[in-house]
Amino acid sequence: MRILVVGSGGREHALVWKLKQSPLVEKIYCAPGNAGIAADAECVPIGAGKLEELADFAASHAIDLTVAGPEAPLCAGITDVFAARGLAVFGPSRAAAQLEGSKDFAKRFMIRHGIPTARSATFDSADAARSYIEAEFAAGAPGIVVKADGLAAGKGVLVAADCAEAVQFAADCFAGSFGSAGARVVVEELLTGEEASIFALTDGKSIVRLVSSQDHKRVFDGDRGPNTGGMGAYSPAPVVTPEVEQLIDRDILQPFLRGLREEKLDYRGLLFVGLMIENNEPKVLEFNVRFGDPEVQPIMRRFSGDLADVLAKTAAGRLAEAELSWSPEAAVSVVLASGGYPGAYQRGKVISGLDAAAAAGAVVFHAGTAFDSAGRMVSDGGRVLGVSATGATVAEAIARAYAGVDCIAFDGGFCRRDIGARALARKKGAER
Ligand code: AMP
Ligand code: GLY
Repeated sequence: MRILVVGSGGREHALVWKLKQSPLVEKIYCAPGNAGIAADAECVPIGAGKLEELADFAASHAIDLTVAGPEAPLCAGITDVFAARGLAVFGPSRAAAQLEGSKDFAKRFMIRHGIPTARSATFDSADAARSYIEAEFAAGAPGIVVKADGLAAGKGVLVAADCAEAVQFAADCFAGSFGSAGARVVVEELLTGEEASIFALTDGKSIVRLVSSQDHKRVFDGDRGPNTGGMGAYSPAPVVTPEVEQLIDRDILQPFLRGLREEKLDYRGLLFVGLMIENNEPKVLEFNVRFGDPEVQPIMRRFSGDLADVLAKTAAGRLAEAELSWSPEAAVSVVLASGGYPGAYQRGKVISGLDAAAAAGAVVFHAGTAFDSAGRMVSDGGRVLGVSATGATVAEAIARAYAGVDCIAFDGGFCRRDIGARALARKKGAER
């Protein structure tokens, strides 16, 4: 099989790393990839948004399967562009990708199909949003979440502490802070509990849940500071108990599948459900139509099946024939980020210690790296590396991941020191 992976982050590196282990795979290209991916795949200098160029490349290089990593090309319709040319893509159609591309679309879909989620309302003007927010707070809402409707690279959501902040954020959305993504605003009730990420494969005929994981969205230890794309993740997430898994299947994934069928949405790819879980009751915070990053990193470390076969069968509408298997071990990935992230960050800092980290047993996925003119590996993004490890227990995986982290250095680089702490705390609680 000849595979093209589209994207350039830690997610794409983790996918390439696992795809490469498949005996079915003859060649992997990654467009555009990064300096670390270049060790595992042939990088092609085509941006993830250049859909026609990517299709030309796939046609001329006899690509059997294209795996679209990020949401932007999916929401722009890469699957439809490729399908029109007889090329297979792992990823939903443009119409189905609206489940991530528009929060209002996703909310309406959830309501139509009875999927549990926060109560919400959608607005097309700052005045209307303000009246609603003021009325909700007057009625005693403990908090409110304001979301730009469209894709805003993870920045378009505010968990507002008070009414004034919520009103201001909605006004900023309409004033263009997030471009056209903020022309419509969703306001929803605050959910409390613990978050977890659930991935599922679907081909529109069946849906299969993968192992659970948990991200760490805030930049600093103890979940402080602004939200980021994710500072580290582990799998499995103990908050997702077998009982919670049953509810996810019954109340979220099966209704989701029925919804796809009823609305004739062509979805052959990965569904990522962001969940809030309280008292063992899962509610949907958001849908994403692609693998989450860094969650995909520990999940790929635990996946022991043939990823190329599974993704190809999903794209072909034959998911029922695919075999999924998992290592019983835990896995952890710690993100090393550039000084300043998630704000304006530094670039071009020389990275040392990657070989030592590998020797210490870590697998390092590259998110934002490049080679400088002297051929040295340098930082080239907000999130730079994901240092992953497995272990018989989460504690062991954490210790190994940080042993890898401690080998690596670049100017200004930093990480959270408490990745996995929630899992450890739960375990301690259970032993008490
Ligand atoms: P979203 O992109 O919709 O998942 O929102 C990003 C983050 O904002 C989530 O991962 C949560 O941490 C937080 N969030 C979103 N919606 C809610 C909600 N209704 N209640 C509490 N937190 C939320
Ligand atoms: N880690 C969250 C995301 O990929 O959206």
